[in-house]
Amino acid sequence: SADIPVITIDGPTASGKGTLADEVGKALGFGVLDSGALYRVTGLAARRAGLDLDDGAAVAALVPTLQLSFRDGHVFLGDEDVSARLRAEATGLLASQVAAHAPVREALHQLQLDFRRLPGLVADGRDMGTAIFPDAALKVFLTASAATRAERRYKQLISKGISANIKGLREDLEARDERDKNRSASPLTPAQDAQLLDNSALTIEASVAQVLDWWQKRRPF
Ligand code: CDP
Ligand code: CDP
Repeated sequence: SADIPVITIDGPTASGKGTLADEVGKALGFGVLDSGALYRVTGLAARRAGLDLDDGAAVAALVPTLQLSFRDGHVFLGDEDVSARLRAEATGLLASQVAAHAPVREALHQLQLDFRRLPGLVADGRDMGTAIFPDAALKVFLTASAATRAERRYKQLISKGISANIKGLREDLEARDERDKNRSASPLTPAQDAQLLDNSALTIEASVAQVLDWWQKRRPF
């Protein structure tokens, strides 16, 4: 599968990775991997199973038993559509707790590689360019200021009818970023060969155009 092209988009929470990955995927006709959803569903299932989220071995052992499926951009756990629940900020915190354990990351590794199918893949997360797809043809590290990210997440939640407060959101996302950056297992850090993109002052359209421009310029296929 080394000849199947991959574009990776890594970065901190609410920097716009998912939106950018979806738009670039649409523009190129590539599939999209939202790797965060895998950590979110693992965190949710571990909590429901009453596991100690600090017990990496126990959470990792749960992963192969999960009846996960992905249909039309929705995530199912057995017959239950858990998509809305996965997006909750509380689930993001559970995700970052279980994601800190190397055995949990191991347990989810192959599942992510399986998304690499023709004609290509856009993968977003924290370690797509560093650990999962180190041979990706284009790696983007997407950032935005914490204030911008908190405001974006706030608007996103309010537009879905979910109540939120900006100060609490900013505290939560900064706590999550700290944990993601400082863990020893695949910490959040740009790949050496990543293109850095700060989109604090960019529209979604401008960010998409930048990535497509990089893609055209380095596309060796
Ligand atoms: O996937 P990630 O958590 O990095 O972020 P996202 O869910 O794609 O984006 C968070 C919110 O920021 C969404 O509502 C996007 O529409 C918005 N956004 C924006 O307003 N301007 C950008 N340049 C990028 C994203
Ligand atoms: O959308 P947002 O950026 O807030 O979160 P996400 O991408 O859904 O990821 C949720 C949590 O899962 C992150 O805070 C990370 O701790 C973890 N994660 C990870 O460790 N590695 C990935 N490739 C993706 C997510």
